[in-house]
Amino acid sequence: MSLPRAVKIVEVGPRDGLQNEKEFVPTAVKVELVDRLSGAGFKNIETASFVSPKWVPQMADGAEVMAGIARKPGTIYSALTPNLKGYEGALAAHADEIVIFGAASEAFSQKNINCSIAESIARFEPVARAAKDNGLRLRGSVSCALGCPYQGDVAVLAVVDVVQRFADLGCDEIDIADTIGVGTPKHTREVFSAVTKVFPRERLSGHFHDTYGQAVANIYASLLEGIEIFHASVAGLGGCPYAVGATGNVATEDVLYLMHGLGIETGIDLAQVVAIGEFISSSIGRTNASRAGRALLAKAR
Ligand code: HMG
Ligand code: MG
Repeated sequence: MSLPRAVKIVEVGPRDGLQNEKEFVPTAVKVELVDRLSGAGFKNIETASFVSPKWVPQMADGAEVMAGIARKPGTIYSALTPNLKGYEGALAAHADEIVIFGAASEAFSQKNINCSIAESIARFEPVARAAKDNGLRLRGSVSCALGCPYQGDVAVLAVVDVVQRFADLGCDEIDIADTIGVGTPKHTREVFSAVTKVFPRERLSGHFHDTYGQAVANIYASLLEGIEIFHASVAGLGGCPYAVGATGNVATEDVLYLMHGLGIETGIDLAQVVAIGEFISSSIGRTNASRAGRALLAKAR
């Protein structure tokens, strides 16, 4: 398959990137992060989670973040919702896109959302219906699509099964997520080759964590399977509270460097993202994990 002319990059730093931070990140910093990202050209920003604050305390200020940002027309601000209570919070906060999140691994489903895969789908049904009734976009995220921290291997058919269930719920977009960053390009192609048989290729996305340094290679492998939507986190922020040892998402700067090098349009200003990576890394006292970001900063100095 030939490479696409353009791709959509979904910036997940404000949510996936920050959710694992031990120290509470001030709401004002989260708001500034989101606003600077929309200013850099991102059209879809995962902004908040409406989950139990006992489970993920860092995301407890989702409503305040959503209320504080300067909405840029045409930008989709997404919110994670595990159940109807979360949906109500996201609706009240005027989220543009509702994200239901399940797993292809039973063990991870239990650890992350305290229920089986089948129970999670039953819980998502009323959320999906309500989102559709209110004219909101609906996205489904499939965790552990390339491996699970608790059960190890995850069968491709298990991923296909959850994708099918999310498709039945009416998802507009479905994320294939390598939660713990164990996937390799060969495995990535196998999974996308299978799921594109049950859900339209152009509405599937790749969500890669970079634990084993394979994320950029996995994104290239996904491009070869015709995938055109990718998630990334500025400065490579992140980690999952329920996936011990997993590092951050692939760094947005690295993905932009890859895409622009391939002549693929993103609509995003890399120089601005590099500056945002420095801003958020210094704000939370972390080393900037983006290789491209660090290289471009060194060159500028
Ligand atoms: P539970 O304990 O089984 O739920 O948790 P419950 O219904 O018994 O409720 C327990 C308490 O939480 C109650 O409060 C509820 O009111 C409250 P209490 O009566 O004890 O005071 N509660 C809520 N509060 C606020 N918002 C809500 C909500 N729901 C219940 N929506 C539950 C089940 C799903 C709530 C919990 O397990 C949870 O919140 N899990 C979220 C875990 C999470 O956010 N994980 C990270 C996101 S997923 C991810 O990062 C992966 C992804 O990036 C893709 C990838 O890389 O794989 C997307
Ligand atoms: Mg993730």
